[in-house]
Amino acid sequence: MGLSEALQGAINEQVKNEVYSAHLYLAMSAQCEAENLPGMAHWLRIQFMEEWGHALKLFDYVNERGGRAEIRAIDQPPARFGSPLELFQEVAAHEARVTAMINDLYALAAKENDYAAQIMLQWFITEQVEEEKSAGEIVDQLKMIGDNAVALLMLDRELGARVAEPGMGPMPATGESDA
Ligand code: FEO
Repeated sequence: MGLSEALQGAINEQVKNEVYSAHLYLAMSAQCEAENLPGMAHWLRIQFMEEWGHALKLFDYVNERGGRAEIRAIDQPPARFGSPLELFQEVAAHEARVTAMINDLYALAAKENDYAAQIMLQWFITEQVEEEKSAGEIVDQLKMIGDNAVALLMLDRELGARVAEPGMGPMPATGESDA
């Protein structure tokens, strides 16, 4: 069974939303670089790559189901995000918006009795729990830190240790691209 037109359109729209998320986090990373917070910049750069991974997962799924993946226009993200606390509050708010988008996609797949798409989307539902949790934890830590510069630098160092999940970037996980 192929994807319905409505579901194919909604998944293509989510490819766009995931690429927007990637650009948003790369823009945030640029601000952190400019403010000498390399750990936060690194964390956000990994987030950028993960969002590309999400976009490709959906793109590949449309193709696997015999549909037609589309690349849609992406809005320009903001260039300024306020303090580190305000920046990560925006990460958390953005992830909550993405969760609502994924839930709407799942509801559409359920309405159309597309069981295969529901199974694929369950991965995203689980991922969103993780995404909201990690952003929320950083917001809570930044609230505790307040204007303590030493504590901020310690958190920055900790976030700089984030390791990318295998296979969740725009490039193949195994390095076949050199072939
Ligand atoms: Fe693709 Fe951060 O959700």
